[in-house]
Amino acid sequence: MEVIIQPNADAAALLVARLIAKELRANPHLVLGLATGRTMESLYARLVRMHREERLDFSLCRTFNLDEYVGLSPDDPHSYRQYMHRHLFGQVNLDPRNTHLPHGQAPDLDAECSHYEQLIEKFGGIDLQLLGIGRAGHIGFNEPLSALRSRTRVKALTPVTLAQNAPMFGGVEQMPRRAITMGVGTILESHRCLLLATGEEKAAIMAKAVEGPITGMISATALQLHPRCTVVVDEAAASQMQ
Ligand code: F6R
Repeated sequence: MEVIIQPNADAAALLVARLIAKELRANPHLVLGLATGRTMESLYARLVRMHREERLDFSLCRTFNLDEYVGLSPDDPHSYRQYMHRHLFGQVNLDPRNTHLPHGQAPDLDAECSHYEQLIEKFGGIDLQLLGIGRAGHIGFNEPLSALRSRTRVKALTPVTLAQNAPMFGGVEQMPRRAITMGVGTILESHRCLLLATGEEKAAIMAKAVEGPITGMISATALQLHPRCTVVVDEAAASQMQ
């Protein structure tokens, strides 16, 4: 695991944007795994700027998001499809047909999960998987007790995650209780992983993720098994690492 510490959150997001841009320029057909959440917003703003000012080209790129809430339609403003549209898809030259998220309203959720896995495989696997980390250590929505070899499936969200994301829904009562998420095993099969974490509230979990023992209770610890994983943190998020 390679850990890169940047002085602040802006610098960390800029570095991750540069790493993604470098891979995309080297391989315009890049299969890019994407994450959502507050941490990613400044990163996507950087990528949009690079598209506008430096002609970063997404036209041949294909994307797969980590997760989507169960029960939300792609048009729901709280869906991750809409999040991606607002922050990236609607602002760069990605072909909408090349952007993939699990369908949270699929009539058969198990079939949807298998289909998502097959689609990733069909396009040769994920070249670069972008990741954030939840306060209890989830990557995607791989909540505590996710098997290290788990595949795309439905997971119930834990109280910590519900509390973390409730502000976006105007309260925990309005939040979906389940999500479809790529599994830890699915994520570990990406050719490269790139995790971005910033801020004091991620310091304790980042120390455990990077330095702690590997455990299904903290799915981010599984990244220690990945042969090519880069972790970019700001000083605040690195403050409890040894
Ligand atoms: C969402 C996802 C999650 C988030 C994590 C951090 O697609 O993959 O694992 O990355 O919950 O969210 P923020 O950045 O809001 O703290």
